[in-house]
Amino acid sequence: MLAVVPPPVTVRVPSKINLHLSVGDLRKDGFHELNTVFHALSLTDEVTVAAAEDSGVEVYGEGEDVVPTGANNLAWRAVQALAAYCDKPAEEPKVRVVLRKGIPVAGGMAGGSADAAATLVGLAALWRLDITRDELAGVAAKLGSDVPFALYGGTALGTGRGEQLVPVLSRHTFHWVLAFDHKGLSTPRVFGELDRLREAGDPPRVGSHAPVVEALASGDPNQLALLLGNDLQAAAVSLRPGLRRTLRAGVNAGALAGIVSGSGPTCAFLCMDGQAALSVAAELAGAGVCRTVRVAHGPVPGARVVNGDEPP
Ligand code: C5P
Repeated sequence: MLAVVPPPVTVRVPSKINLHLSVGDLRKDGFHELNTVFHALSLTDEVTVAAAEDSGVEVYGEGEDVVPTGANNLAWRAVQALAAYCDKPAEEPKVRVVLRKGIPVAGGMAGGSADAAATLVGLAALWRLDITRDELAGVAAKLGSDVPFALYGGTALGTGRGEQLVPVLSRHTFHWVLAFDHKGLSTPRVFGELDRLREAGDPPRVGSHAPVVEALASGDPNQLALLLGNDLQAAAVSLRPGLRRTLRAGVNAGALAGIVSGSGPTCAFLCMDGQAALSVAAELAGAGVCRTVRVAHGPVPGARVVNGDEPP
């Protein structure tokens, strides 16, 4: 009798920006206590998982030549983590993972985390696992602080390392322009630079997340623009001083406000509407302050199967 090979599963997964990112103390485990408002954007990656004798990871698109394809690729670590979680035999899982990337690599938009989340959702469908998204989030949190959010998407308040999530009501579609830099920034290096800046002086800190949550509920981009804040921005700018010019150029091009996304170096510009975003993108693209620009909107849903059956 022939074994039935399940068809490949493709998952679309969003990027994220942090509308508010408050970095607290360095914990004993090397992570910082965070208080952050995540916002999922329509700039996505697509991940296909397929049963295959020839296991491994392939990468196409944005940053394809810098993403590792070996055992330390986060999507591959997701394969191993889910196989272990559901007691698959100890031998190497026979899975091929194909990443089609739109999210910048090491860009502060959680692209690697997105790929890991998409891999978990894809494998749950491929292996026909009886597993809830909340259970997948437990596996996701061990892979990285931003992986659970990529499963849920939308807008959410993140605490702990960023892995503990509560949904936030967002009444409006917000329109963004993203400026990609020529080279990525290492997240641990940016957190380390913030620790250094805080030892040397007292860089300003963002306040409470409450006003941002209120602005999201009101749906007014003008109100939200005044409240965007990121404690990691000073550290990212200290390591990459050219970001100052990029941030200024976006506002000069007509954005309501600009912010470094997460640990950077991608800059995110909030615009009045979709039309304004297209015009800001066109002007910013010609300003010579970044490698490339994209427009995106948010919030959008988390990792979703785009062919075949949707798992829980
Ligand atoms: O969890 P993730 O693997 O994305 O974290 C990458 C690095 O970023 C950590 O090793 C740590 O240096 C830093 N980080 C942190 N505090 C957090 C999240 C990340 O210091 N809450």
